[in-house]
Amino acid sequence: MATTTMARASLALVLLLITAAVGAANCTTVAYNDRALVIDGQRRIVLSGSIHYPRSTPEMWPDLIKKAKEGGLDAIETYVFWNGHEPRPRQYNFAGNYDIVRFFKEIQNAGMYAILRIGPYICGEWNYGGLPAWLRDIPGMQFRMHNQPFEHEMETFTTLIVNKLKDANMFAGQGGPIILSQIENEYGNIMANLTDAQSASEYIHWCAAMANKQNVGVPWIMCQQDADVPPNVINTCNGFYCHDWFPKRTDIPKIWTENWTGWFKAWDKPDFHRSAQDIAFAVAMFFQKRGSLQNYYMYHGGTNFGRTAGGPYITTSYDYDAPLDEYGNIREPKYGHLKDLHAVLKSMEKILVHGDFSDINYGRNVTVTKYTLDGSSVCFISNQFDDRDANATIDGTTHVVPAWSVSVLPDCKAVAYNTAKIKAQTSVMVKKPNTVEQEPENLKWSWMPEHLKPFMTDEKGSFRKNELLEQITTSTDQSDYLWYRTSFEHKGEAKYKLSVNTTGHQIYAFVNGKLAGRQHSPNGAFIFQLESPVKLHDGKNYLSLLSATMGLKNYGALFELMPAGIVGGPVKLVDNNGSTIDLSNSSWSYKAGLAGEHRQIHLDKPGYKWHGDNGTIPINRAFTWYKATFQAPAGEEAVVADLMGLNKGVAWVNGNNLGRYWPSYVAAEMGGCHHCDYRGAFKAEGDGLKCLTGCNEPAQRFYHVPRVFLRAGEPNTVVLFEEAGGDPSRVGFHTVAVGPVCVEAAEKGDNVTLSCGQHKGRTISSVDLASYGVTRGQCGAYQGGCESKAAYEAFAEACVGKESCTVQHTDAFSGAGCQSGVLTVQATC
Ligand code: GAL
Repeated sequence: MATTTMARASLALVLLLITAAVGAANCTTVAYNDRALVIDGQRRIVLSGSIHYPRSTPEMWPDLIKKAKEGGLDAIETYVFWNGHEPRPRQYNFAGNYDIVRFFKEIQNAGMYAILRIGPYICGEWNYGGLPAWLRDIPGMQFRMHNQPFEHEMETFTTLIVNKLKDANMFAGQGGPIILSQIENEYGNIMANLTDAQSASEYIHWCAAMANKQNVGVPWIMCQQDADVPPNVINTCNGFYCHDWFPKRTDIPKIWTENWTGWFKAWDKPDFHRSAQDIAFAVAMFFQKRGSLQNYYMYHGGTNFGRTAGGPYITTSYDYDAPLDEYGNIREPKYGHLKDLHAVLKSMEKILVHGDFSDINYGRNVTVTKYTLDGSSVCFISNQFDDRDANATIDGTTHVVPAWSVSVLPDCKAVAYNTAKIKAQTSVMVKKPNTVEQEPENLKWSWMPEHLKPFMTDEKGSFRKNELLEQITTSTDQSDYLWYRTSFEHKGEAKYKLSVNTTGHQIYAFVNGKLAGRQHSPNGAFIFQLESPVKLHDGKNYLSLLSATMGLKNYGALFELMPAGIVGGPVKLVDNNGSTIDLSNSSWSYKAGLAGEHRQIHLDKPGYKWHGDNGTIPINRAFTWYKATFQAPAGEEAVVADLMGLNKGVAWVNGNNLGRYWPSYVAAEMGGCHHCDYRGAFKAEGDGLKCLTGCNEPAQRFYHVPRVFLRAGEPNTVVLFEEAGGDPSRVGFHTVAVGPVCVEAAEKGDNVTLSCGQHKGRTISSVDLASYGVTRGQCGAYQGGCESKAAYEAFAEACVGKESCTVQHTDAFSGAGCQSGVLTVQATC
């Protein structure tokens, strides 16, 4: 008996030791010092990129992560999306594109690190900054301040996420990929605007303590927390540039959590583009000045599928001009130019994180930095002038550094990389209708009216109240739509002006069952007024108002208190003589959501009565559901729905939400629409905008249909809810593929590569131009002169029929009498 017990005990001990040993073999330690994160005892330069899992599909994740790795990244960063995971209190969703564990496992499978930004307030151009709207219903709740109700909910959710990831062994110490965790988000940006400074400070210190209590085994970070940073977290920087920022604590590394690769788009705005040269300049400057970890926000922006994705007035596309485009295609030259920089930085890693350093200023704006270790050195020369080249001399050799650029010299002798000189190709992505099946005239549409009638007359709604209520609370943010309806007696017929004060984003007014007026927030403003002429009849009149939000506010001090809907009104009718009927306090009946939403028409269940077998459908009819079937385009290229002709609404394919659409909204003409120079600081707001495209064009015409939403060889169903009245007959499906590709080669001896490489099997069909004299145009339509026959022939020979090709730029190419040494080659995939 005693022996058996002892034998068992020693077996248990052996097992314990084996487990410990296995754990030790797989597990990664993460520590830090003033220069870098120390991973498994090694100081590391970490290059990271943001990919938000709900903004793509699980089927896309491996490819996105693989491309990030091939682009030279070590880590993937993501926020956690609380309102997506807990849409109702204690009802959780971890399925499909919310399968967070699967996402981290894909990162692990790719052999990459991960950065977990729990928030759970995340901003992120996400509905309500990620916070569930139901938090509002909890008594005593004060968002993001020191109070028990908020802290209790925040801790409950944070613990749930941490435990879920721990159970899956996702933290570095468990052998998983997660090397850093973030709590809160940019609280420091709003602290000064909060009146209760003490509560704010207590809250942020509580956040740090609560996070540390989670025992995740990796360091906790906070971003933009300069003003009041708790001692037990690493404070980090967000912005277009972070080279001049240094953490106040001297024992922590310099970390840049958000290097914005472009910018998000709102329905009223054109597209922002941040050049590859400027991003590379910012990154190189950051590592010149002791940077240790930087993260591209976004590396892949993706799509705001569904109504709880996407912030206020933010388009369904969250492309962000990121190195991987919305559909997951490689965006060139951004991707390639940064990849080249990553390789150079990695080659210098050891000296950067261990070496002694010195900065020598060559007057204003020009700095040479030398890092030295064991007799080897690496150098950077930065030129922050936006209008002139600069010279700097290192060890007797003078180097010319173009305006607004950094030269990197991994041996302090030769320039291996200059941020303004792009060697990567430019790829122009082209959208085209796939086969005849997809052409608009081949989609057969049927339709169904949204059932408005009940709420135009005596239907009770869900409840009544003698006041105009706030929309988020009343609808618990379960739908974009909230009906307000009242009735009143009037003697005789008369004309009035109806005026309704409302807060975001769209309002429709019906009088006695007829649409009498509509208005959306001009330029995304939250507070606006509807004014429209209406006719009353003798007797009982009905006024029905439909308020629609398009993503709740996500940023700013007390953003959560910003109301939505017709809260308080006033709602008034004024006649020509100035006599007023004020309906603000009459008896209003309420109903959240549309009848078609409650019936789930988008699921196209059997038994629904669709009209239009005779081939006719109504056009420009507001509040109409439409449906058509189509064949999925063959192949692997990304698919988009061209929704031109529609007005405003929501689209689904095979029951999957593609997001809100609004192609009738034309983007504003702004200062930055007509010029683009990478030199000088990039901005997304205020004066000095540049490089905007799509001005005076529909803010978003194309909507991503991920391949997994489609069924090959079977009919696919598209369902639209057209809220404002549009013409579906123009709707079609397109594929997105590389068209023209172009490359410039300045130096003789360079290897020049062209590639169609997004999808296997796509080859270069022609070489269109090889010229030393391109003066005008853009890739795909270059106009030049000084063509080089020798270069043309060399590229045609090496490239046509190939997925990619490399040709050396030699002396033999230069056309006689050409001034420019720069060879431009254009080919078509
Ligand atoms: C930051 C914020 C991010 C995102 C970004 C803009 O301030 O932390 O979540 O909103 O701005 O894209």
